[in-house]
Amino acid sequence: MAAKIIDGKVIAAELRARVADEVARVKREHNLVPGLAVVLVGSDPASEVYVRSKHTQTQAAGMASFEHKLPADVSQADLLALVAKLNRDTTVHGILVQLPLPKGLNTEAVVNAIDPAKDVDGLHPNNAGRLAGGFEALSPCTPLGCIILTKSVHASLEGMNAIVIGRSNLVGRPLVQLLLNENATVTIAHSRSRDLQGLVKRADLVYAAVGKSEMVRGDWLKPGATVIDVGINRIPKDDGKTRLVGDVAYQEALAVAGAITPVPGGVGQMTVACLLVNTLRAACAIAGLPKPAV
Ligand code: GUN
Repeated sequence: MAAKIIDGKVIAAELRARVADEVARVKREHNLVPGLAVVLVGSDPASEVYVRSKHTQTQAAGMASFEHKLPADVSQADLLALVAKLNRDTTVHGILVQLPLPKGLNTEAVVNAIDPAKDVDGLHPNNAGRLAGGFEALSPCTPLGCIILTKSVHASLEGMNAIVIGRSNLVGRPLVQLLLNENATVTIAHSRSRDLQGLVKRADLVYAAVGKSEMVRGDWLKPGATVIDVGINRIPKDDGKTRLVGDVAYQEALAVAGAITPVPGGVGQMTVACLLVNTLRAACAIAGLPKPAV
């Protein structure tokens, strides 16, 4: 039987609607308008598309959106000065510096400069450390989206065998921590792992986040496994255009998996929706309000 297709578009739209309801409530009850500042350095076309989408969706949820575009040759000092200004700005509750930064800028120093209370990317060492320690933290958006998509299929992940392929700070590592919090048994695999295929075969939950087109093949999967494909790879087509593919060979996997996310229309949709969730949560925490219902 073909796998159930996990529709990230529908699930993200539901989540955005729940965020918008809560934003309307905190506005009505507490006169609080959550605000998100996005900083884009340079003009990478893919980053520009993401930033535009963040701006539109933030406004659609009823929040304030502040866009800051800086030239690719901005100095480290000027970028840090902008972050410091946003840290002080009381209308800003979430700060996101779009990555990757152009060469010559020190990403670690920029991330470290963001107020952890406004770190809606969950990349600051305070948040990454809190998450790893099992404490409450702002968590990176893509891993949060992966968990929500998984839970659309499995009410509980307790005791399930999960494999996370990829160990980036933005996806793989925080995803491992979130899966542990869900009481899954987690394997983290990467480019040096031996017998990746054998490791994947044991997994009930497969998270592919390596950035290699269709690397995970259908016959690697345990029949019935849930597959969450985080990859977004552009590959050339015969007509000179490009098409998007994931890190999983989708057509092959459809025949073996129990459920799978498509690319596009899967995880990608969830990242911005979770960014809105984090901005709302950060705004409530900074204002000393109870946690929102989303
Ligand atoms: N670039 C691609 N994804 C992300 C993300 O989630 N956050 C940031 N800051 N940059 C990204």
